[in-house]
Amino acid sequence: MFDWHGKGLKLGDLKLPTPIVQGGMGIGVSGKRLAAAVADQGGIGVISAVGLGFMGTPLTDTDVIAQAEKNGETRNISVLRQEIRKAKQMTTGVLGVNIMVAISEFAQTAKAAVEEGIDVIFAGAGLPLDLPECLKEGGRTKLVPIISSAKGAKLIAKRWISRHNYVPDAFVVEGPMAGGHLGFSKEQIEDPAYRLEALVPQVVEEVGKIEEQTGKTIPVIAGGGVYTGADIYRILSLGASGVQMATRFVATEECDADIAFKQAYVNCTKEDIGIIESPVGLPGRALMNGFLSEAKQGLRHPKVCPRHCIITCGEENAPYCISSALISAYYGKLDNGFAFIGANGYRIKEITTVEKLFSELAAEFDEEFAQNERVR
Ligand SMILES: Cc1cc2nc3c(=O)[nH]c(=O)nc-3n(C[C@H](O)[C@H](O)[C@H](O)COP(=O)(O)O)c2cc1C
Repeated sequence: MFDWHGKGLKLGDLKLPTPIVQGGMGIGVSGKRLAAAVADQGGIGVISAVGLGFMGTPLTDTDVIAQAEKNGETRNISVLRQEIRKAKQMTTGVLGVNIMVAISEFAQTAKAAVEEGIDVIFAGAGLPLDLPECLKEGGRTKLVPIISSAKGAKLIAKRWISRHNYVPDAFVVEGPMAGGHLGFSKEQIEDPAYRLEALVPQVVEEVGKIEEQTGKTIPVIAGGGVYTGADIYRILSLGASGVQMATRFVATEECDADIAFKQAYVNCTKEDIGIIESPVGLPGRALMNGFLSEAKQGLRHPKVCPRHCIITCGEENAPYCISSALISAYYGKLDNGFAFIGANGYRIKEITTVEKLFSELAAEFDEEFAQNERVR
């Protein structure tokens, strides 16, 4: 394990030696393999729960299917159960799942993850106002909303405390440089007032008030454009207790997506990365390609919507089916889909391993620590 100068992440009784959370990446991009590899390095490895049952994942575990059927669950949830069980067999580290609030099976998915004994649930792309309802007595799952403002933290905490008598275990604040769906308007994405560096102190201050009110320590984890170990040091210096990183983990051998998906990251330039209007109803940062330009010209309109997977998806008017597009990309068929990517994705030059990436980040962090703290 690498040295983070005692700046690991404490999440209630979970004590992580490394202040890094791997951001959930759907569909399928962060599955058991990536999550277990990150957990092995002392970070939180996160499986994305969205759309797992839509893929060709083999359902080999008959117990899982039987249990899911008994509970009237869908294939998405039974595959998630299987994915969590397998990930747990692969690592003794800390594992989380990322569940989009906008998916139609949000509450049932969260409940299933709790039943499987997942360590942490991260919930974003919407406000997880009633997430604590998924908890069971004696369970140990931590609940972490993903927000994009101090206002979001205040609103969720108020609701959870008044309605559910539950205080969030941490918050992830995601800035506008992140990959995937963004909690900002197109104008805010470009506005320096919404930079992660501006958001972190605001969220830390707001969360400080909740801590004072409740007596609970609530770490703030910040993500969106965090790229080097020096970035990690800088974000922690602003009051965050950890960082969430996703884009960098795509270009690893362990990332669950097809090699063509990873290679698209390695090959891309800054100009290839752009903002799209996702059918989900949010802007998203993606690797622009022929598929997206055809969709923009109205050439990719889906004929039917077989899944009804996203509550906020304007199915009739959607320029394409986002779950089909993301699944194609996961399988490396980028002609029929596209890849989400963070604003710094163009800096990736090679595919590495999760261990080497952690080693590099820790060395850069160490250098920054030496320059800033040892001289004091
Ligand atoms: C390929 C990809 C897929 C993503 N999918 C999801 C998702 O399903 N749910 C979610 O909350 N965030 C998603 N994100 C956002 C990440 O979890 C993360 O917060 C963000 O990308 C961090 O910024 P970075 O990529 O610059 O490190 C995705 C990001 C990428 C790059």
